Order: sequence, then C-alpha cells, then structure tokens
Amino acid sequence: GTSYEFIQVSRPRPGVAQVTLHRPKALNALCTPLITELNAALAVLNSAADVGAVVLTGSERAFAAGADIKEMAPLSFSAAYTSAFIESWSALTTTLKKPLIAAVSGHALGGGCELALMADILYCTFGANFGQPEIKLGTIPGAGGSQRLARAVGKSRAMELVLTGRPFSGDEAARWGVAARAFPTHAELMDAALDTAETIAGYSRVAVMAAKEVVNKSQDLPLRDGVEYERRVFHSLFGSRDQKIGMAAFVDKKKPEWSHE
Ligand code: CAA
Repeated sequence: GTSYEFIQVSRPRPGVAQVTLHRPKALNALCTPLITELNAALAVLNSAADVGAVVLTGSERAFAAGADIKEMAPLSFSAAYTSAFIESWSALTTTLKKPLIAAVSGHALGGGCELALMADILYCTFGANFGQPEIKLGTIPGAGGSQRLARAVGKSRAMELVLTGRPFSGDEAARWGVAARAFPTHAELMDAALDTAETIAGYSRVAVMAAKEVVNKSQDLPLRDGVEYERRVFHSLFGSRDQKIGMAAFVDKKKPEWSHE
C-alpha cells in the first residue's frame, strides 16, 4: 500500500481499516501535511470494496494535541482566509461514507478534540484528556468544536469549556454523551473499537451507509424534516438487494449473505 509520513494504515480485522495518527514528536499535532495524508487515506478507504468501517486512533499518550501551534503562530488573516485554513479538515465528514470510529487515549485537545467530535462514534479511555484550550492561546476553536460540543453537551457546558479552556476527562465525556463509551485501558479501548467496527463491517454496506447518512441528518435538519428524510431513505432501501436478502434470511432462519447492493 501507500506509505505515509504522519499516519499509518492497517487492516486489523476483516472488513476493518485502522488509521493511526503517527507524529509522536509533536503528540500528533495536526499539521496541514498530516491532514492531507489523512484525507488521502480516507478517500482510498472510502472506495475500497473490502472495507466496511474505519477506526481512527492515535497513541496511548495522545490522540492529537491540537492543530500545529508552530504552523499557526505566524499565520496572517489574509493567508488563513485565502488558503481556507482548516477547511480541508471537513473532508473527514464529507469524503468518508463509511462509519468512522474514533478511539481516543491521552490528549485530545483543540483540533484533536474537534477531530474526535467529527467521528461517527467516539470511544475513549476514562483517563483521556479532552479540551478546547484555544482561549489560552488568544484564539477560539476553528474546526467545529464550538458547534459540535454545544450539540453534544448543551450550551452552558460548552460555553464553560470553550471560555475557560478547562480540560475534561474521558469519564466526563462518556457521562455527557460526547463519547459513546469509555474504557479503563488503551488495550480495552482498541479491542472494543475494533469489535464495533467489525460488527458494522459485517452488515450490508448499502444499509450501513444509509444509516450513517440519516443519523447525521439529525444534526442538521429540524425534526420534522429529519423524520421525513429518514422515511424517504427507508423507502429507497426496498430497492436494494440486501433488504431482500436480509428479510428472506430472517424468514428462512438463515444467516444473511450480503451482496452489499
Ligand atoms: N502544536 C505543535 N506542537 C505541539 C502541540 C501542538 N498543538 N502540542 C504539543 N506539541 C509539541 C511540543 O511543542 C513538544 O515539542 P518539543 O519537544 O519540540 O518542545 C512536544 O509536542 C511534546 O509536548 P510537551 O513537551 O508540551 O508535552 P507535555 O506532556 O509536557 O504536555 C500537552 C502535553 C499538555 C498536550 C501540551 O503539549 C500542550 O498543552 N499542547 C498544546 C495543546 C493545545 O493548546 N492545543 C490546541 C491547539 S489550537 C487548535 O487546535 C486550533 C483549532 O481549533 C483548530
């Protein structure tokens, strides 16, 4: 496969790809070349027929300690504006149609926290260190943190986190619903993330993609429109082969053999 400088891509389970952020000298600070590699890798995985779900992780010490402060320090307004700085990070949420599970250990600060919040499912260790400390640097979150945190934890708590920059633990993240689940150790976290990815990869790709799409719509649409959108997509799945395969298998008391069509 392709070799990258700042990330590693592996296939730890059937149907599962793992992308590991690997810039240990900077605690996986998210420099532009790292994001470019991440987007390239996700585009490849998105079109890989044998991949049904992706796990995104860092090291035990750091998921990612933020955008690269050394890269940002000298940036001017016009350079940031004209290069659409950080905009390319959103490719994570638009390129990949397959489920992305973030497995977070250690630091997930600033852009690292925001990257984790972009995932479809977030798992972490109890000891993970989340936060939006940008205020301490004289700036604000720039990769969706204020918006996604407010949706995840409510306005008052998001306001407190963004205005004080205080970190929050993986334990808090799970209690607040930012994380779906938290685990005592990095090893247990990785096992669970890969198990979940393998489960998802074992289902019909077309149904999984549709499920991800409709849940994501809930974040953008008013309830009435979202429910209508869901029903439209639900109706459309009667046109898939896998709906016939899945329901026939249930009726025949057999295990479905998905066509992914
Ligand atoms: N950017 C660039 N380099 C970083 C970095 C970052 N965000 N975070 C850590 N590093 C580098 C350090 O400079 C250090 O490099 P050197 O060895 O060359 O000095 C190396 O990684 C190890 O870091 P520390 O020595 O600081 O490790 P520590 O264990 O003492 O502290 C830490 C860990 C608490 C995470 C600390 O590194 C830290 O506070 N990092 C910055 C966190 C932060 O403010 N993130 C938000 C960035 S702004 C942003 O993300 C904007 C946005 O919304 C998109």
